[in-house]
Amino acid sequence: MAVASAPGKIIVLGEHAVVFGQPALALAINLRISCRVRPSKGFLLNGTSLSERTHPYIFSSVQRAWPGGPLDIETSSGFPTGSGMGSSAAVTVACLAALSSAVGKGMEEKDIASQAFEVESQVQGRASPIDTSVSTHGRGILVASKPGEGFLWHIQKDTREWFVHHCEVPQLSFVVGYTGINAPTGPLVAKVKRYSDHTTFARDIIKEIGQLTVEGVRRLRANDVQGLGELMTRDHKLLAILGVSHPRLDKLVQASLPYSYGAKMTGAGGGGSMIALTDSPEKVAQAIRMKGGTPFLVRTGEPGVRIDQG
Ligand code: PMV
Repeated sequence: MAVASAPGKIIVLGEHAVVFGQPALALAINLRISCRVRPSKGFLLNGTSLSERTHPYIFSSVQRAWPGGPLDIETSSGFPTGSGMGSSAAVTVACLAALSSAVGKGMEEKDIASQAFEVESQVQGRASPIDTSVSTHGRGILVASKPGEGFLWHIQKDTREWFVHHCEVPQLSFVVGYTGINAPTGPLVAKVKRYSDHTTFARDIIKEIGQLTVEGVRRLRANDVQGLGELMTRDHKLLAILGVSHPRLDKLVQASLPYSYGAKMTGAGGGGSMIALTDSPEKVAQAIRMKGGTPFLVRTGEPGVRIDQG
């Protein structure tokens, strides 16, 4: 038997643009998904038969990383799936780590991150390595188009490539506001791709998100929380223009802004969650609740994947 767990994440700046090779910054949060695997008579997930259609991430992880016989797999999640907090990446990373431990291999972060990226790409059709890398490494991750300080690993797919870096981040206080709407990532990523294939306007917005992310990392390193917050709010506007926000996300962002340095949707959008960078988490949580959202006060910079029982 083996048990592993991996954290969810928030994307502070750069989602969607990162799929096109622009930089992005993500932080691991203190909400985790755990996965336990043990030998069994048939392939089971949480007591039901493991199927590609209903459990694509686990199915694909097992196909890639498990050479042995049938398994009974159990997962448990500390946060809602499809909420924009990286549940698919966290479940994939935790499952791959548990399988790696069960076959007696040590856990190489780079291998887990690259396999998990392949699983996400296969299931979603198109993906960047940001979610899977931050869930594997934990703490803070900067994905960039060139290697630099804190370089961890390089991931390539067709003509696109990403250089994943460790990013040292000061302790920041974020509130996540979940809209209650679960929106799958794949169709939203495909929507932005269509938009960018057809208009230079969309391509310019994607580039602007990239520039804003570079500036955001600079502000973060200078401990300029105010500046970082303003860039987050600007990023939200650009993502809304790309068509990946949702009226409920806009509402939660607006409600949080009076008590925050900045606020934006996080992850794929279309529902899911928003984040607010704030010194008044209770006030933001209350504002989110008043607008019908579910707040989560999260700690950032948390550890990545770990084997909880080998
Ligand atoms: O799956 P989510 O909601 O965490 O979004 C992932 C971030 C995207 O940039 C939209 C997609 C990707 O693979 O980078």
